[in-house]
Amino acid sequence: MNIFKHLTLLFLLSQALLFAAEPIKPIPKTIEYDRKKAELGKLLFMDPQLSSDKSVACVSCHSFEHGGADPRPVSIGVHGVTGNVNAPTVYNSYFNFRQFWNGRAKDLKEQASGPLHNPIEMGMVTKEVEKYLRSNGYYRKVFQDIYKKEPTHDDALDAIAEFEKALITPDCKFDRFLRGETELSESEKRGYRLFKTLGCATCHNGINVGGNSFQKMGLIFPYPWKESFPDRYHITGTPDDKNVYKVPTLRNIALTAPYFHDGSVPTLELALQKMAYHNLGFDLSAEEVRDLTSFLKSLTGKKPAILLEER
Ligand code: HEC
Ligand code: HEC
Repeated sequence: MNIFKHLTLLFLLSQALLFAAEPIKPIPKTIEYDRKKAELGKLLFMDPQLSSDKSVACVSCHSFEHGGADPRPVSIGVHGVTGNVNAPTVYNSYFNFRQFWNGRAKDLKEQASGPLHNPIEMGMVTKEVEKYLRSNGYYRKVFQDIYKKEPTHDDALDAIAEFEKALITPDCKFDRFLRGETELSESEKRGYRLFKTLGCATCHNGINVGGNSFQKMGLIFPYPWKESFPDRYHITGTPDDKNVYKVPTLRNIALTAPYFHDGSVPTLELALQKMAYHNLGFDLSAEEVRDLTSFLKSLTGKKPAILLEER
């Protein structure tokens, strides 16, 4: 490992020390959002009619039963075309500082127009979206009620983003521990300690246990790279940005297999072993893997309330 990598790690560690006692912050128990818009957004999120061949909705690749992520290594879009990257979770994505693996969208509204128009995801053009929404009596009525006009593409994105804002998963065991409402098991405690002492928390921290910085996959020992990966290199053109991604959230991580941008890792145990090796240079013992896994499982929160309610 070269001196620059050492320096980068030292920098990251010093950053971690700047955090208050706990590097992780609990998710608020509730979040304010516009109820009507979010309910409309929920319908749109689940509507395959919004795709060019009417077969794919947002929910096809962001499954509510799989922690808001895609259980397939890479997503499959309209006309059965296979993508090249694993779909991250939409749960708690409101708390991410940018959206997408390489952060190319600044917020959820800007993000939502991506898959809608991506020819291998939903493949729609603005005009078709509006034509469909305006031809549907129910949508017309609801858009009129909320936005006081005919359905527009922009308002549809607004409603989808409002729905995603509601997709928070509060009250996981670890958050309840942070608020002093419960104790962790011995294994969870050891896992959390390791998470901090090994250095995981230098990159995975804050409210989303990630989602707030870009970091290299393979900081210490390089990770395989492919031109097709949506990394920071595609944004900056700087060779050092190859395999640099937005650090993914570790909330609900036990539910969102397979792991990594390439969806190549089927289990959580293997994912954290690879992280420890590639990004920190450690080979973990079986016990360390068990304890870290117990801790990460304590980050599984409640299913978003908006998904449990019937209209
Ligand atoms: C064909 C599968 C597919 C469909 C359909 C799809 N997505 Fe995604 N989604 C992905 C993939 C793959 C990524 C990661 C792409 C990347 O980062 O380059 C992603 C990323 C995201 C993210 C960013 C999360 C993060 O942490 O950066 C959000 C939010 C999201 N999608 C919401 C939506 C919404 C809203 C829709 C419907 C309008 C939708 N997706 C439709 C596959 C899909
Ligand atoms: C230098 C920053 C850094 C450090 C240190 C780090 N990670 Fe990561 N972690 C990342 C990045 C970047 C990714 C995305 C990698 C990818 O998809 O290729 C990631 C991905 C993950 C994933 C998979 C997430 C998913 O949704 O696919 C897990 C699990 C994980 N890290 C756990 C850990 C654990 C446990 C440690 C400590 C042993 C750790 N990380 C240390 C930056 C870091």
